[in-house]
Amino acid sequence: CGIIGFLGKRPVLNTLVSALKNVEYRGYDSSGVAVIQNKKLVRYRAVGTLNQLIKILPDASQSLVGIGHTRWATHGAPEERNAHPQMSKGIAVIHNGIIENFSMLKSFLLKQGYRFESDTDTEVVAHLMHFYYHNNKSVHQVFFKILTELEGSFALAVLLEDYPNQIFFARKGISPLILGRGSQGVSLGSDALSLVGISEEISYVEESTWGILSLEDIHIFNEKQESQQLYFIPHPLGQESLGRGEFHHYMLKEMYEQPEIVLKEGTRPIVIPEALKDSSHITLVGCGSAFYAAWCGKYYLEQLAQRIVTLELASEFHYRNPMVQPGVTIAVSQSGETADTLKAIQYMEQKGQYTIGMVNMPYSSISRYVQYELLTRAGPEIGVASTKAFTAQLLCLLKISLTLMKEGEKKQHVLKGLQQLPMDMQKIFFKASQLQDIAQHLVHAKGIIYLGRGISYPIALEGALKISELSYIHGQGFAAGELKHGPLALIDGLTPVVVVAPMDQFFEKTVSNIYEVCAREGKVFVITDEAGATQLAGVPVQDIFVYPSPKAWELHPFLSVLSLQLIAYYTALHKGCSIDQPRNLAKSVTVE
Ligand code: G6P
Repeated sequence: CGIIGFLGKRPVLNTLVSALKNVEYRGYDSSGVAVIQNKKLVRYRAVGTLNQLIKILPDASQSLVGIGHTRWATHGAPEERNAHPQMSKGIAVIHNGIIENFSMLKSFLLKQGYRFESDTDTEVVAHLMHFYYHNNKSVHQVFFKILTELEGSFALAVLLEDYPNQIFFARKGISPLILGRGSQGVSLGSDALSLVGISEEISYVEESTWGILSLEDIHIFNEKQESQQLYFIPHPLGQESLGRGEFHHYMLKEMYEQPEIVLKEGTRPIVIPEALKDSSHITLVGCGSAFYAAWCGKYYLEQLAQRIVTLELASEFHYRNPMVQPGVTIAVSQSGETADTLKAIQYMEQKGQYTIGMVNMPYSSISRYVQYELLTRAGPEIGVASTKAFTAQLLCLLKISLTLMKEGEKKQHVLKGLQQLPMDMQKIFFKASQLQDIAQHLVHAKGIIYLGRGISYPIALEGALKISELSYIHGQGFAAGELKHGPLALIDGLTPVVVVAPMDQFFEKTVSNIYEVCAREGKVFVITDEAGATQLAGVPVQDIFVYPSPKAWELHPFLSVLSLQLIAYYTALHKGCSIDQPRNLAKSVTVE
């Protein structure tokens, strides 16, 4: 979920809503704001994207203080009664995170006579605050109770009718919260992106603290009620980082930015810590697309840098309490906020690993936790389905591997290939109409199978994830060699099969798999390079998309994944899906 709070010198409602747009990527199944108007708390909430909320907001509002929320449902369906702010008389609360002991607290509050209108854990917080506040506790005591009694992880922003010139906040566990200040007023939000346009300086709120925001001052306290020091830094992001220019979708813009990122970042020298140079064992962790990028990284690090590489899905990892070999762990994450990835890196740090965060968003929670930050520098990614961030992660992992690699001809060869790569990526856009045609074929399918071998296997998985996220067609990726061990039973002439088959050491074996599918009336769409295409003449496939042959196998993923991203984009477009905000998803998931 995304949270925003703003205390301004002028009426705040419009500013609050435009800042909410910045955090909509964190959740968009419902949204809401609360303001203090004529000394009274007023709340507006709506189901759906922020546009639904905007429709019901008053044209003019004189409120100088407000809090706002965009929701990604955890407890309770996306209905208006479950949208935030949640209220108890005179108190409005917005929340990101999960209150783990909410049922126990709810039973207690029910016994005290409180009535609940939502299924959320957040309403428990509002009533609990009311309970303490109206039992003669001071605000300090109320927040002290909140911090100590609520279990789990949360970032809260609270308005109290009795304090119309203040916003209260609290943070516990891994849920991020930042404060901002600038000429327009003071603010709080989920991350640096949330405060673009409303703050000139930001400060990160530490774990297990609570505080009070006012125009005059900001106070912050720890669990022992000791006053804490805040450190502000200039806001690292500018307004320009948020527009989508002439593109219809952020996703399209972000896909088009990829050649430029490879051009710029491909030649930028990378500085890696000594610990990474010295370590023979590297663990890579991540979730979603970041996990698939890490998977490609495993191939690079094993083949080029000759390291032993363990790959771990962050959402599964630390729960099994695994034994860990000494070494270095790299957490791969676009946002740097993913709770599962943060937990995994915390686990590894406790196990004595040297920790590196490969993140796109500087100053993120993972950046601030790890011993070393490696920025992927793709610029803010707004489209929920990752595209340019994935490519920037691939590039960063390749650059690390090249840095760790012995000098020699092979290394020079890949480096030369990297110089040509942006041009070759650009050429894919010139042929986008063919990818649109392929998308036309896929649009009515119930399911699509993606196949690949070697480094094209995680790329096939990423392609399947992209089509599922964007078009709601069930995409499933398999290692091409596994086809005969089960998935072949799915081939029926109605389930299209997309095969990533670059001309690399696996090409011939993958072609055999293509024949196996064709022999069973499967409709095959091949993504390959020029060298591969020449070998496919006469193979009875439905269509072949050909991208320029790169100089080295390491560079195929950049070209094949771009082709798969475009296929997913056009398929979703044909189906009329919500491209930048697919249903049920959020870009940054800060709960486990
Ligand atoms: C969410 C997004 C995915 C993303 C994953 C990891 O589930 O919907 O697109 O790949 O989180 O995000 P991260 O910010 O850690 O890369």
